[in-house]
Amino acid sequence: GAPVEQEYSKLEVGQQITVEWRGKPVWILRRDKKMLSSISKSEEMVADPESEKEQQPAYCKNEHRSIDPEIFVAIGICTHLGCSPKLFADPGSLESDWLGGFYCPCHGSKFDLAGRVYAGVPANANLEIPPYTIDTSSKVIIV
Ligand code: FES
Repeated sequence: GAPVEQEYSKLEVGQQITVEWRGKPVWILRRDKKMLSSISKSEEMVADPESEKEQQPAYCKNEHRSIDPEIFVAIGICTHLGCSPKLFADPGSLESDWLGGFYCPCHGSKFDLAGRVYAGVPANANLEIPPYTIDTSSKVIIV
């Protein structure tokens, strides 16, 4: 399929949009500092903190699972049985000790704001990151 381009400069901090790429929903989320610090805090609670399962291109195998820490690009399909997890960005927005992340309503899988799966939920792999680049005109190009 053709690459999908999306300008992200108009995204507000904390805003998430979905684009379609090869028939799949791809999220682009602009993370703020608070969101990035929640990723450090969830480190201990996620099943694959170092992303050893290779659910991302090599250039996204880092703490934030992204090229630019602020711009999170991920395939919005639960790695359990394929539902669409929802963003609960704010701490406490899902449950009292929630750090912020994504929640799948189908069977209760939870992911942090880098798409890393929490331990002890039905899904057992981090959300997949598609291959992409970021160009100088603030465009994400999903290849
Ligand atoms: Fe998401 Fe089962 S499909 S938890």
